[in-house]
Amino acid sequence: MTVGRAVLAHDDAGPRDAPALLLVHGFPHGRWLWDAQVAALGDRARCIAPDLPGFGRSPALAAPSMDAYADALVALLDELAVERAVVCGLSMGGYVAFALWRRHPGRVRALALADTRAGADAPEAAQRRRELMALARGEGSAAVAESQLAGSLGKTTRATRPELVAAFRARLAEAPVEGIVGALEAMIDRPDSTPTLATIDVPTLVVVGAEDALTPPKEARALHAAIAGSRLVEIPGAGHVSCVEQPAAFTAALGGLLDAVGDA
Ligand code: MLT
Repeated sequence: MTVGRAVLAHDDAGPRDAPALLLVHGFPHGRWLWDAQVAALGDRARCIAPDLPGFGRSPALAAPSMDAYADALVALLDELAVERAVVCGLSMGGYVAFALWRRHPGRVRALALADTRAGADAPEAAQRRRELMALARGEGSAAVAESQLAGSLGKTTRATRPELVAAFRARLAEAPVEGIVGALEAMIDRPDSTPTLATIDVPTLVVVGAEDALTPPKEARALHAAIAGSRLVEIPGAGHVSCVEQPAAFTAALGGLLDAVGDA
């Protein structure tokens, strides 16, 4: 289904009067990415984990873009009567978080930027995405899942946790082709967020898996250096999906951000 303004499928767990934590998944994920964080933080934060447009059970957008995803998230916050949220985005979710900050800074209480980068696509990266679109259209989600798997998980996870690898592969393969293609187009077109970094003046956590091959720790260090007062956490034994591979360490870092925000 394609609609102009998405009503996003989402999980909403935790006390209504606790700080809201908006958890934004990456590509090609769904709200399931945050199951461990929702379970662990649901007693101290209102954890809102949506499926981005075109993923999970959320309808696709006619014209997907990072701005449109950000607007859809703000429409969800409106629906839930949440004025401001701690916004946590992983990888593509981080690109959406930058757009949300640019367009709706008053809705952002704090930021967690996980396994992400500020820069736009280089021409070679855009070309790889076009090839991935062709793969999605020609061979479907399972082929896309297979192509993303090795880069998504760190070497420790791949070598030692076959059940996690199998479960993650199966989850990736659930992503609808329409959502995959739309997100790839949106990522190709996304702007360079580097100039945005100096404008960020809310508490910010930058977190990265030490074995992240897609957005390596040097990207996280660059974000940390450019965002005044930010905190950097590097998680050993994790790759690109650090919240899934080392959930306890990731959740502890996010808990630190919630502590910093307090009840203010
Ligand atoms: C993601 O995990 O969201 C992707 O790796 C982002 C990207 O392809 O740039």
